Amino acid sequence: MSALFSLARPEILALSPYAHAAWRPGLTRLHANEAPWRPAGDTSAAGLNRYPEPQPAALIERLAALYGVEPRNLLVGRGSDEAIDALSRIFLRAGQDAILQCPPTFGMYSVAARIQGAAVIDCPLRRENGWRLDAEALLAAWRPEMKLVYLCSPNNPTGNRLAENEIAAVCDALDGRAVVVIDEAYVEWSGAASLAAWIERYRTLAVLRTLSKAHALAGARIGALIGPPELIEIARRVVPPYALAQPAIEAALAALAPEACARTDRRIAELLRERERLHRALEASPLVERVWPSAANFLLADCTDAGEFLRRGLAGGLIVRDLRGQAALAGSLRVTVGERAQNDALIASLANGAPA
Ligand SMILES: Cc1ncc(COP(=O)(O)O)c(C=O)c1O
Repeated sequence: MSALFSLARPEILALSPYAHAAWRPGLTRLHANEAPWRPAGDTSAAGLNRYPEPQPAALIERLAALYGVEPRNLLVGRGSDEAIDALSRIFLRAGQDAILQCPPTFGMYSVAARIQGAAVIDCPLRRENGWRLDAEALLAAWRPEMKLVYLCSPNNPTGNRLAENEIAAVCDALDGRAVVVIDEAYVEWSGAASLAAWIERYRTLAVLRTLSKAHALAGARIGALIGPPELIEIARRVVPPYALAQPAIEAALAALAPEACARTDRRIAELLRERERLHRALEASPLVERVWPSAANFLLADCTDAGEFLRRGLAGGLIVRDLRGQAALAGSLRVTVGERAQNDALIASLANGAPA
């Protein structure tokens, strides 16, 4: 049995997937109990009265080309959140299995695991070393019941990329023994290459990508699970047959047209300049003790007075993320880099109320 199959829940392997209406676009659809007329306000190309194409081929091909993998290596879903949910449902048995994650990190890994009744084991990033992933400590903490091992790079909320050699050490040691999930939601802002091509090197590696961040499509909810074909085949059994809404599919295809991608690249370059400017400005504020280097579209700020930072921001109509409830982030806030005028407004708000 393939390594992936032996890690998956047996009941998922035994499952017969839902048999959706056949996708035969050339034929008149009298097989899916749809209304034959379009609803008011429908501006979609395909018609909102019709069920969308399950796992839409054109979008999968476009995403696969963008990410440098084959279409058979990719599943699309409603954001990478859906991929995290699918992985949890495929691999985690209630009361028996666990995930291993490196906090502080993205909160959905643990939420999805807990919904599934699985345990969450932490191997914290090393704050004293710039939030470094400690592969040796992670591997020492790993146990066979930890079916999913999450590595987020660049990491939310710390903003740093995890070192490639540390990620490789984890992948080398756990290949075939756990599914290592590399979440690259923010990789476009990092200037570094994606590790998606590594799915050819490892049997049980999954990579998550999303259109929510650099492609500015958070509202469309489009994310990709990238992995070996067996993983994609199993994941197709657990995601809903019509996972993506038709307007979302069409919006994603439009946003991935070559001229739209060229515009995205220019926008990313602009935002990176703003990131540096905002970094310097925040660091100059007496309310801020330290701003961590970022490879993402946000900055993690350790504050001298996070409450006052939040208060002044809100007074100026701006909201940033309060991280003070998380271990190792007792005085920290996360600031998303906005457009120039928005960043200026934040900088001005922080100065308001400061002694002259
Ligand atoms: C690290 C990381 N992964 C995944 C996601 C989920 O993104 P989406 O479901 O919009 O693709 C987020 C959202 O903030 C994130 O920060």
